[in-house]
Amino acid sequence: MMDAVTLPWDFHPIDGERVRLTALRPDDLEPLYEMQSDPEVCRYLLYEPRSHEKVVEVLARDAGALRLEKPGDYLQPAIRGHDGRFLGTMYLELHSVEDRTAEIGWILLPGSQGQGYASEAAALLLDLCFGELGLHRVYAELDPRNAASVALCTRLGMREEGRFREQMWLKGEWTDTGHHAILEREWAARR
Ligand SMILES: CC(C)(COP(=O)(O)OP(=O)(O)OC[C@H]1O[C@@H](n2cnc3c(N)ncnc32)[C@H](O)[C@@H]1OP(=O)(O)O)[C@@H](O)C(=O)NCCC(=O)NCCS
Repeated sequence: MMDAVTLPWDFHPIDGERVRLTALRPDDLEPLYEMQSDPEVCRYLLYEPRSHEKVVEVLARDAGALRLEKPGDYLQPAIRGHDGRFLGTMYLELHSVEDRTAEIGWILLPGSQGQGYASEAAALLLDLCFGELGLHRVYAELDPRNAASVALCTRLGMREEGRFREQMWLKGEWTDTGHHAILEREWAARR
């Protein structure tokens, strides 16, 4: 059965047991810079470690990305502890309204990794996608060498559906892209 996607959708904070997703705000600048300028964090991202000036620019842009309405619209909420501490960011981009598809992504500060925060934050976004938003399919694209990100997909029940060989010339080398996805009924069966 085809359900309609609930759009436009305006961002509101989302609460989990240990983490909270809220909009980025100006005082996230320093932890966001710490994260986006870290060579280890950026190793498998599409961008090189960012300058302070660049992070000022992307924070202004991403703090305002609060509405999903048409393909290409995205959310970039902060992942925070319940004490307000910045832990990282999530990413959700509407890919197709007709096909009810979105892309998901995640980045944690190095000191926040290894504690399950990204798993919980991603589960909150998948609940949103397949609940309130009425999406059908959510996918993640990543470098197959990014073991932590592959493990996160696996924990969430996202299966690797394909691997595009040397799809990108990135950071001085040909780089594969792994495509991982989960459908609404598969997520419902896990919850
Ligand atoms: C990808 C990334 C977000 C994954 O972070 P992560 O901390 O490994 O993922 P989670 O927050 O889900 O934590 C899982 C880890 O915490 C552990 N953990 C502890 N408590 C946990 C809990 N309550 N629930 C789940 N996992 C828990 C797990 O065992 C796992 O550790 P392990 O890898 O040693 O087995 C992180 O590596 C990162 O930010 N990388 C750099 C940016 C990047 O590459 N992003 C992805 C681009 S595609």
